[in-house]
Amino acid sequence: LPAQAFELVLFGAAGDLSLRKLFPSLYCLHLDNRIHPDGRIIAVARRDYDREGFLELLKSSLEEFLADGLFDEDTWKSFSKRVSYAQMDITDPVSYQDRLKHYLTNPDVAKVYYLATHSDLYGTICQHLYSHQLLKGDARVVLEKPIGMNHQSALQVCKEVDKYCNEEQIYRIDHYLGKETVQNLLALRFANSIFEHQWNQRYIDHIQISISETLGVEQRAGFYESAGAMRDMVQNHLLQLLCMVAMEPPAQLDAESIRDEKVKILKALKPLVGEHISENVVRGQYQEGSRNGQPTKAYRDEEGVDPHSDTETFVAMKVEIDNWRWAGTPFYLRTGKRLPDRACEIVVQFKEVPHSVFELQHASAMANKLIFRLQPDDGIKLQLCEKRVGKGMSVKPVLLSLTAEHAKKDRVPDAYERLLADAIEGNPTLFLREDELLTAWKWIDPILQSWQQSGARPEFYHGGVWGPAAATLLLAKDGRLWQESH
Ligand code: BG6
Repeated sequence: LPAQAFELVLFGAAGDLSLRKLFPSLYCLHLDNRIHPDGRIIAVARRDYDREGFLELLKSSLEEFLADGLFDEDTWKSFSKRVSYAQMDITDPVSYQDRLKHYLTNPDVAKVYYLATHSDLYGTICQHLYSHQLLKGDARVVLEKPIGMNHQSALQVCKEVDKYCNEEQIYRIDHYLGKETVQNLLALRFANSIFEHQWNQRYIDHIQISISETLGVEQRAGFYESAGAMRDMVQNHLLQLLCMVAMEPPAQLDAESIRDEKVKILKALKPLVGEHISENVVRGQYQEGSRNGQPTKAYRDEEGVDPHSDTETFVAMKVEIDNWRWAGTPFYLRTGKRLPDRACEIVVQFKEVPHSVFELQHASAMANKLIFRLQPDDGIKLQLCEKRVGKGMSVKPVLLSLTAEHAKKDRVPDAYERLLADAIEGNPTLFLREDELLTAWKWIDPILQSWQQSGARPEFYHGGVWGPAAATLLLAKDGRLWQESH
């Protein structure tokens, strides 16, 4: 039985993230008996629903967003008993006293406040929770990304929140860290000796980390217009994945040891400033295109988007890490909306053999690769070479799956399931520490500033292709190619 009874207060409960991701994950935790029977969820939003009205909305969104076959009436009935709805204005201190407190009925259980709102509101919410004594005892605050829009505003939000919460109470979420393969990457690296010995600039040619989405901006123009792909995906998800691949082995698997190692990588990122920015960073925006034979809109024609918008929907970049392990090994990062496939992969490309005795057509295509696939399906594959059957002595690449057959049949929990369960149980390992967040912003800031100052515009790409031509060139000028997704 899960140990921790809890009261989870979800601010922004009627928003896109809550309905699409957080509630479906809570439902799955309930379905699999991974949360305590005495766990209550208090949905907080401004909209004028009563409990029945909110449950209706919740039910229809679970039916829409849960994976096929997971929704059923009996589970819904028992799950919905956990949920109450508090309609309140979260900026109004009185509503914490008059409304929220009525729902928090058990002083002995852990309190988890999940802030799925704009980060400008984090300070205010924490202030009101604090002044109503709601942060006392076993209480934590989960903060959604993005926190701030640059280093300065992130620092501002942190300072506000720090006035009312200890660092140990603050859980800064990056849901990519909850993905199963990311944790498997740690297992592969640190539970096996054969890879870690090769895990450095001597044996690795380069590493690619790519997150591609087929969707456009959808209903989120309000947020996305001021964020763009750099703030939405690179500052957090891509840099976090880079840290997990590149960090030194931690002495222990606890939160502090892992975060210490990640911060060291962020601090060692070679600064991109001046002309290095245009040389190493490609910024794109999608135009009209097509998907499955259907036309798709240009970003500038999407609802809520400025018809002259320069917001980027694609970023590709070459990043280097200035330390002994990685000096000279490029990391190529790429993310974009309206690309041909939805996929996330980390590809570790080893160097070619120093001298080949086989008949090879494309030596670089024969180099060993380790591929970590995070989605849509997940798993790890290793590319090796084997002899072609028959006469002669030519070799061909083969992909070896490192994922056990039985594991493929299990339902892979969504990243938010893992992270919500960790927040409830009080395990901060997969959440970010303040210095991590701020160090990442510090590195991103000069790029954002340079784009703003130079007035550089994103390069266009058609919906349904792999970004602007400059992204291909970025690797081609180093004699490399982007890895096609597997
Ligand atoms: C979110 C971004 O953090 O991650 C979205 O705000 C993006 O723009 C999403 O679509 C991608 O997450 P996933 O888990 O679907 O790859």
